[in-house]
Amino acid sequence: MPEGPSRTAEYVATFRAIESVRPESDRLFSDPYAECFIDGVRTFGARVARNQLGQKLVCRYIDRNWPGSRPSLVIRTRLIDDAVSAAIDAGAEQLAILGAGYDTRGLRLPAAKGIRVFELDQPPTQERKKRLLKQRDGELPSNVTYVPFDLLEEGVGAPLERAGFRAGLKSVYIWEGVLSYLTPEAVDQTLAWVTASGAAGSRLVFTYIDVALLNEGGEDEPPWSAQVAKVGEPFRYGLDPAQMDEFLGARRLKPIWDLSTAEALEKHPVPGGRNAPDFYRVAEAEVLPG
Ligand SMILES: C[S@@+](CC[C@H](N)C(=O)[O-])C[C@H]1O[C@@H](n2cnc3c(N)ncnc32)[C@H](O)[C@@H]1O
Repeated sequence: MPEGPSRTAEYVATFRAIESVRPESDRLFSDPYAECFIDGVRTFGARVARNQLGQKLVCRYIDRNWPGSRPSLVIRTRLIDDAVSAAIDAGAEQLAILGAGYDTRGLRLPAAKGIRVFELDQPPTQERKKRLLKQRDGELPSNVTYVPFDLLEEGVGAPLERAGFRAGLKSVYIWEGVLSYLTPEAVDQTLAWVTASGAAGSRLVFTYIDVALLNEGGEDEPPWSAQVAKVGEPFRYGLDPAQMDEFLGARRLKPIWDLSTAEALEKHPVPGGRNAPDFYRVAEAEVLPG
């Protein structure tokens, strides 16, 4: 269990805050809550980014120091927003966000506001999130249930079911920016819970890193891989995109789509997107009948 709130979750919120102040016609999403989760130099950066020149300077600074990480985060946020909204429109009755960090989809996606949302994270990050949201809005959202939990320490099912998550309903699960920090056992156990708890047709949207990145390392390793390791959250788990059908099929999941963030940015360009890496991927899968 970490001693403090997740630093990587705060980096994610910073990039979302910066995207959210881009002109409405260009930005890929708006997360008006993101700014309340950041502080210090990150808040300063998000404020400077509010005008066009500031935006250019701030993005250039980030993209030079952590090439590809910001556009990669922006596009993954948009792809997941769209997939989750579509799954709810198609009948999902509850949303579980595993390793939620400062994800605010339960508050900002119109479709998600109408269903129960369960956010699961380690207590230090979750407590900080609740405190800052209360400070911002005076209260916590009534459709969101916060479940403190460590994916590496206990089975995922019992705490969520105790919190009111109902097994057997058509559900949607988000697992964004988390797999790379887990062990193979924790990944398997979580996927087994997803397929056991969600009705056939439930959707899982997740991100992962291509295992080739972990195998290669060395000079080709992107700078942000070293950066996340420096703040105590090193990448340690990856999957092989070429083996994805087999990997998911063996776990009663059917692949729907699987894109590198570089591929996705070709469809939804963002400034600086040319640097997005191929190794960071976003995918969606469907729970098959048991
Ligand atoms: C990079 S952040 C992503 C946060 C969020 N999913 C998003 O994309 O905005 C990683 C998150 O995974 C959570 N996390 C990492 N290891 C975990 C574990 N063992 N159990 C529960 N949460 C974990 C961290 O606390 C953090 O909130």
